[in-house]
Amino acid sequence: MSEQRRKAPSGIGILGIGSCVPEGELTNYDLEKMVDTTDQWIRERTGIFKRHKTDDQTATSDLAIGAAREALSDAGLGPEDIDVIVVATATPDMFFPSTACLVQNALGASQAVAFDIGAACTGFLYGLSMAEICIESGRYERILVIGAETLTKIVDWTDRATCVLFGDGAGAAVVGRVGEGRGFIAWRIGSDGTMSDLIKQPAGGSRMRPTEENLRSGDHFIRLQGNRVFKAAVKAMASVAVDTLEDGGYTGDDLELLVTHQANGRIIDATARRINVPPEKVFSNVEDYGNTSAASIPIALTEAKEKGILKEGMLVELVAFGSGLTWGSNLMIW
Ligand code: UT7
Repeated sequence: MSEQRRKAPSGIGILGIGSCVPEGELTNYDLEKMVDTTDQWIRERTGIFKRHKTDDQTATSDLAIGAAREALSDAGLGPEDIDVIVVATATPDMFFPSTACLVQNALGASQAVAFDIGAACTGFLYGLSMAEICIESGRYERILVIGAETLTKIVDWTDRATCVLFGDGAGAAVVGRVGEGRGFIAWRIGSDGTMSDLIKQPAGGSRMRPTEENLRSGDHFIRLQGNRVFKAAVKAMASVAVDTLEDGGYTGDDLELLVTHQANGRIIDATARRINVPPEKVFSNVEDYGNTSAASIPIALTEAKEKGILKEGMLVELVAFGSGLTWGSNLMIW
């Protein structure tokens, strides 16, 4: 594609990143002892080998705080420099106060306004988009966007179709002015509530209160129509990734790194093929973390940076899909 059609980066981007996962791990071999499954089935169908799991004392905000501290340190900023804290999570410590307010208190980010957003696995990318809007408005300068989840707390450990998929963790990014020639080029976010039944936690809210009966029926656990979600995920992620590349005047061939939501190795491979991105330009760590929902992209970015794979000046695209349904992408010069 002609370089003249390329959109310049906005100068707003990621100043620092970090992640935090609990020490506890659960391998496929551990799961073989818990449900009727095998390491081979899980690896072949999902690409996952192990996932991190919190203990009973650890909540989502604990992981969010750890990731936030790392991201602040990576950005060379202190908590008082943050204007907005956004926590993307489907597994908050409690419905209210928001997990973001708990993070604000722990960090001592007294200047910040803090709130949660609910966009499931796409939450981190929704957060990045909101961060850019906040900064562009001229009202705020530095936004801490955190994706944090403890999905193992809402998994039915007797349901082999879901309990092998999810893990706990948090990742965070400080968004601010990164200077000319860098930052976000284009992003898109989308939603489709007509398919809200495909992944959900039916009970626990106001529709099905957490009564004894609902708890007994297991309706407070994750319910997933895996195969339908699989197909919808590939279709939506490929489509939003291509559209966002086009918005910026790029194609998949130009990308130097693709980081998608880490739900399933086969979904990641199929998406990359549709965007025309070769495997060596795709970063994936689903094998070691499983699906950590809103946390998966910032955890992957942090690891890619630590391994020297993600470098300054690279053309990077992030793509996600999740319950809602929701999807999103962000094309940037890192
Ligand atoms: O974050 C965005 C949300 N996305 C997701 O969370 C995941 C999207 N979906 C998926 O990743 C895949 O659909 C799954 C990994 C969940 C399932 O893979 P699949 O290839 O779609 O398998 P399936 O659901 O069609 O099940 C195939 C078979 C079934 O047996 P039958 O009916 O063919 O006899 C399942 O009962 O595999 C069986 N099965 C298992 N077998 C061993 C399901 N789970 C397991 C298991 N171990 N853990």
